[in-house]
Amino acid sequence: MPREIITVQAGQCGNSIGSQFWPQLCQEHGISQDGNLEDFATEGGDRKDVFFYQSDDTRYIPRAILIDLEPRVLNGIQTGPYKNIYNPENFFVGKNGVGAANNWGDGYQTGELVHEEVMEMIDREADGSDSLEGFMMLHSIAGGTGSGLGSFLLERLNDRFPKKIIQTYSVFPDTQNDNVVVHPYNSLLSMRRLTQNADSVVVLDNGALSRIAADRLHVQEPSFQQTNQLVSTVMSASTTPLRYPGYMHNDLVSIVASLIPTPRCHFLMTSYTPFTGANVEQAKTVRKTTVLDVMRRLLQPKNRMVSTIPGKKSCYISILNVIQGDVDPTDVHKSLLRIRERKLATFIPWGPASIQVALTKKSPYIPMNHRVSGLMLANHTSIATLFKRIVRHYDTMRKRNAFMEGYKKTAPFADNLNEFDEAKEVVTDLIAEYEAAENADYLNPEGDQAAGEAGDKRVTNLKMSNQQQS
Ligand code: GTP
Repeated sequence: MPREIITVQAGQCGNSIGSQFWPQLCQEHGISQDGNLEDFATEGGDRKDVFFYQSDDTRYIPRAILIDLEPRVLNGIQTGPYKNIYNPENFFVGKNGVGAANNWGDGYQTGELVHEEVMEMIDREADGSDSLEGFMMLHSIAGGTGSGLGSFLLERLNDRFPKKIIQTYSVFPDTQNDNVVVHPYNSLLSMRRLTQNADSVVVLDNGALSRIAADRLHVQEPSFQQTNQLVSTVMSASTTPLRYPGYMHNDLVSIVASLIPTPRCHFLMTSYTPFTGANVEQAKTVRKTTVLDVMRRLLQPKNRMVSTIPGKKSCYISILNVIQGDVDPTDVHKSLLRIRERKLATFIPWGPASIQVALTKKSPYIPMNHRVSGLMLANHTSIATLFKRIVRHYDTMRKRNAFMEGYKKTAPFADNLNEFDEAKEVVTDLIAEYEAAENADYLNPEGDQAAGEAGDKRVTNLKMSNQQQS
């Protein structure tokens, strides 16, 4: 039975990423620009129905809802080469077409006005699934629509579908050089919903994406189209275990459960190697790709798509490597031993210190000139330094109440600014949680019986275990 996933794309960034993700999935599954199966796509063994359904005329249609408050990006999708694959009923454009002006409050209050219409679309898609597994949201947290409307929808999705997994691919701003001056406000407010209403957040930060584009692709000022190719490569690789299932890690719940031992520490980093011309224009060919090379490169901080500053105690909470290609399992075993001998990865002192590996097929329809490629999904405590940076930038602006007038005009801030204070408290607690996770006594801080029980509760992610049972 398929475990379907509905993708919700919100705002300019979310939809621009989606507009590269769906063509990539189509190419991998041999689906044409019109949604028909190509004549050469006869291999089978893949699971198209997780992300697509078939219309009455047997065309493949993405299970995707595309939402924006201004029409530009959606118009581009509706007139682009893949315009025919989407269900035209699944586009939502704001009535006045002006966007949320980079204001989280604006996006959130618009959510109040439009959520019935949007939730109806989502319900329709959910009713069309046999065994819905969950949702994937694509958005940026720095503007107004993806962050504010996205936050509103995360709350609603959680209420309406409490047992379904909610995973987001969230683009964080380049804190040194972002085009949205109020990004610290919008990011902090969104972080609260990502903490409270999502089960798993794949963090992609524009600063790191630009750095990788410069180092790997030798593009000094990458366009969004180029950074989005990196993102859609990561998204495609992280969903291969679902689309080309093996024995393990073949649904979202098992992937999330293996990476997230305690529910709040659910922010994941990614690395991918090698980027080649097959997935990203301009990428140079990498000559040697053994499993060990790939795994080693995945662990190098410079390949991480999140800019963090690891401290002395920073460590991995968990790692799942998705290795694609022509791989002998004994090579995987040897590589893992070598990585352990060389101590290339430091793990938390209170849990299993092992890299998990999912071996998956790669698409037979896309020629590759390298043997093996890999994606690392990692839960690492240094992600807290990214959150600290957001809080620091927020504090600087908030101290002077800079650019606050626009927020006060929106419903969430009409009476007071408590929303900001509450969001800061949630993010500060999250940072403390990651720091606590670096200590051996994390699950049992007092060393006594009562604290042990509290610790036990920390490891029980109720929502996930409920779902596994249902
Ligand atoms: P409004 O424009 O206020 O309605 O909200 P929005 O959600 O549509 O805004 P947008 O998605 O443009 O969010 C702004 C943030 O996203 C900034 O940090 C941009 O740098 C980043 N961003 C915008 N488009 C892209 C994109 O295509 N790719 C990437 N990686 N980042 C993007």
